[in-house]
Amino acid sequence: MPKISKRFITIWAPAIAGLIVILTLSFIELYYSLKVSDGIGFNSKKANAPAGKKIFYKLGCVRCHNIRALNIKGGHVGPDLSGAYSDAKKVYKENVNGFLKNPVGTMYFVLLLNHLSKEDRKIITAELKKAQNIQDKMKNKKIKDNKRG
Ligand code: HEC
Repeated sequence: MPKISKRFITIWAPAIAGLIVILTLSFIELYYSLKVSDGIGFNSKKANAPAGKKIFYKLGCVRCHNIRALNIKGGHVGPDLSGAYSDAKKVYKENVNGFLKNPVGTMYFVLLLNHLSKEDRKIITAELKKAQNIQDKMKNKKIKDNKRG
């Protein structure tokens, strides 16, 4: 075998193959990260969710949280966030915005790697306030229905 082709087989071919694998993987990853950031990746039905709600898909909150009041079905690692707006004040003595700025517990580690911008926190806080209102209304309605029935 001539010297050059042996060298090609032992050094260049594996190097090129490796490079192709790495490039392919990064393209696949890029493709999926773009898909998820559109809110399409997690649940295609939610692709045209209202702009505010999309943030929970975009930032991956749905991997661990349900928000039933906003019709968001997600993971069960963390609590349902429908009542988080009031809970944050009760449990952490901060509003949601403050909690997300200085998170404790699991959320400390979640947000350590995935820092939220001021704008993101604003949208999340507004959405969770909406969720709280909806949840409170549903609760009041239930109490009324129970009294009637
Ligand atoms: C890896 C799972 C995971 C992800 C992803 C995640 N969370 Fe959480 N979150 C938790 C867990 C677990 C808790 C329960 C409290 C604790 O132990 O810190 C929590 C608590 C919270 C709380 C306090 C709720 C309460 O009632 O006490 C808020 C608000 C919150 N998360 C918001 C978010 C937002 C917004 C995102 C997306 C940017 C997010 N979380 C992403 C796991 C997660």
